[in-house]
Amino acid sequence: MVKIINTHSHVNTIKERSIQDALNNLKKENITAIIPSSSPEDIFDVDKFINNNDDLYGYVGVFPEFVNDFSDKTLSDMENIIKNNSQIIGIGEVGLDYYWDKTFKELQKEVFIKQIEFANEMNLPLNIHSRDAYFDTLEILKKYNKNSQAIMHCFSGSLDFARECIKENIYISLGGVVTFKNAKSAKEVAKNVPLNYLLLETDDPYLTPVPFRGKENQPCYVTYVAQEIANLRNISYEEVCKVTTENAMRIFPQIS
Ligand code: NI
Repeated sequence: MVKIINTHSHVNTIKERSIQDALNNLKKENITAIIPSSSPEDIFDVDKFINNNDDLYGYVGVFPEFVNDFSDKTLSDMENIIKNNSQIIGIGEVGLDYYWDKTFKELQKEVFIKQIEFANEMNLPLNIHSRDAYFDTLEILKKYNKNSQAIMHCFSGSLDFARECIKENIYISLGGVVTFKNAKSAKEVAKNVPLNYLLLETDDPYLTPVPFRGKENQPCYVTYVAQEIANLRNISYEEVCKVTTENAMRIFPQIS
C-alpha cells in the first residue's frame, strides 16, 4: 500500500470518536501525520502526545490567535522541546490571520517574524497559516526567511498567488476544501500547480472532505483529498500519493 504523509492534523483534539480509533485508522491506511501546536501551553501537549506515539511527528509554534500569550520564554520552551524530542520536525502553525482579528495586526507580524527567525536558527521547516493576509505573509517570508522550507498549510489563495509562492520555493498544502463542490479556486490550484510542490493534509477536526462534510474530520480522510486531486489532474491516486509523499520526505527527512 502506498504511503501517505498528512502534513497537518490536529488528531490530538478530535472529539466525536476516540483518538485511538483515529490513530488506528491511520495505521490501517499506511498514513503518518504531523501535528501542529497552537498556543504556548499547547506546545507541551503536542510534545507529550508525540512522545507517546512513535509513528507521529509534530510542529511547535504559536498560532495568530494566541500571539498575546507569546514571550521569549515560549521560544526557549520550544528550543528545549526540539532538542529533546527528535519527532518534533518543524515550526507551526505560525502566520497571519486578519480574518480572525485586525486589531493585533502588528503584534501578529512581530510574532510571525520572531518564529521565522527561530525556525531559521533551528534549521527547521515552517508550517504557515495565512488567512486574508496573503500579501503580508509572502512579503514577510521574502524579507525574513533565510533557510527554512516554508509550507502554506490549507492553501486558500488563488492560482496566481500559488504561482507566486512557488516562485519563492514555497510548497502548497491542500486539504478537504478541494473536495467541496463550490471550491472553484482550490480545485484550480490542485489542477494546475506543479505536482512536485503539492502536499496533502486534513487540518482535522475541521474542514471535513466530501463525502463526510458536516461530520467531524479525522486524519485518514486525507485519502479523499488525494483522490480528488487525482481526479482533477486526471492521473492515478497512487501517483498523487507517491509524489506528495516524496515531496514531504524531502522537507522532512526524519520521517521514516
Ligand atoms: Ni490547523
